[in-house]
Amino acid sequence: MKPVYKDAAYCASCHDEFSPGNASEIVSTFKEWEKSPFNNPENPSKHKSCIDCHMTNLQEGKFSPLKGFSTDGGKIKDDVKVHYFAGSNHFLSGLKSKTHEEQTLQLLKMSAKLDVDIKEREIIIGVTNVGAGHHLPTGVADFRELWLDITLEDADGKVVFESGKLKSDGNLGEDARPFMKVFADKDGKPAGLLFWKYEKLLSDTRIAAGERRVESYKIPKGKTLKYPLKATVKLNFRIYPQWVTDAVKQAYPQLPNPPVVELNRVVKVF
Ligand code: HEC
Ligand code: HEC
Repeated sequence: MKPVYKDAAYCASCHDEFSPGNASEIVSTFKEWEKSPFNNPENPSKHKSCIDCHMTNLQEGKFSPLKGFSTDGGKIKDDVKVHYFAGSNHFLSGLKSKTHEEQTLQLLKMSAKLDVDIKEREIIIGVTNVGAGHHLPTGVADFRELWLDITLEDADGKVVFESGKLKSDGNLGEDARPFMKVFADKDGKPAGLLFWKYEKLLSDTRIAAGERRVESYKIPKGKTLKYPLKATVKLNFRIYPQWVTDAVKQAYPQLPNPPVVELNRVVKVF
């Protein structure tokens, strides 16, 4: 019954994380939300707290509050809070519970919209964070993989450009442009798994709440392009990279490989 349990500040106590050694901010989910358009208490129709998104039941890709009671003999409520805490980790939670997995996949797929255009041998793709009330991705964003997988075919069905494909060893191709944070230690060396050594930020390409990020790709010069062109653009997500799975597998060989999840897809003919 305490008001704090209905307030995003309650979640802040754990979902902003810093390194006790050097005070580097490793996770800033609460701070990101605080600055986002979702933090809008003056306008209750626009305001969405952590609890609205992470503790509301999902059905058919939409928030679908459950009616019921939370204490025996208590009064019927229109929106009983669920405790799935659907976030992004569909994979590890899915190993234990199909409901958690399926709730999480629904939330993930609500996070972004795509738009695609082609102008003078350039593919221009917009990715808008419409559904995450903080950066996309947030949390352990140094280990999440979120990227554009692009295939452009000409009139004969020949692939004239592609980007963001997996290599044969399962790792993401070097040409991909993942939306993520990259941490380095005090000497500027990438921190990799040793995130607590983070002192310098090498890059942060995540998409803030409400922001539309534009990525454009030049189609290599050469032959004239045979129109119509068909662009297939996917926004893909993988809970952590193959090299992390490979490292964990040394201790737990039975760990399955996390799948690549398609969050959104646009197919457009030009
Ligand atoms: C408008 C809906 C919305 C609001 C508000 C929101 N989130 Fe999220 N959250 C999402 C979506 C969608 C994802 C999955 C995409 C991502 O990782 O950003 C997510 C992911 C997460 C994750 C998983 C991060 C990881 O490690 O991959 C955590 C933790 C989280 N949110 C906590 C919070 C907290 C705490 C707040 C409030 C300060 C909050 N969220 C507010 C929608 C929301
Ligand atoms: C006492 C600490 C603590 C509090 C308070 C707390 N959390 Fe968490 N939460 C965690 C930990 C630890 C995890 C698992 C590790 C992770 O994913 O970051 C987690 C996981 C999550 C996830 C799943 C992340 C994923 O990757 O799928 C979501 C969503 C989430 N919390 C939301 C919330 C919300 C919303 C609140 C406030 C109502 C909240 N948490 C309060 C500690 C806390």
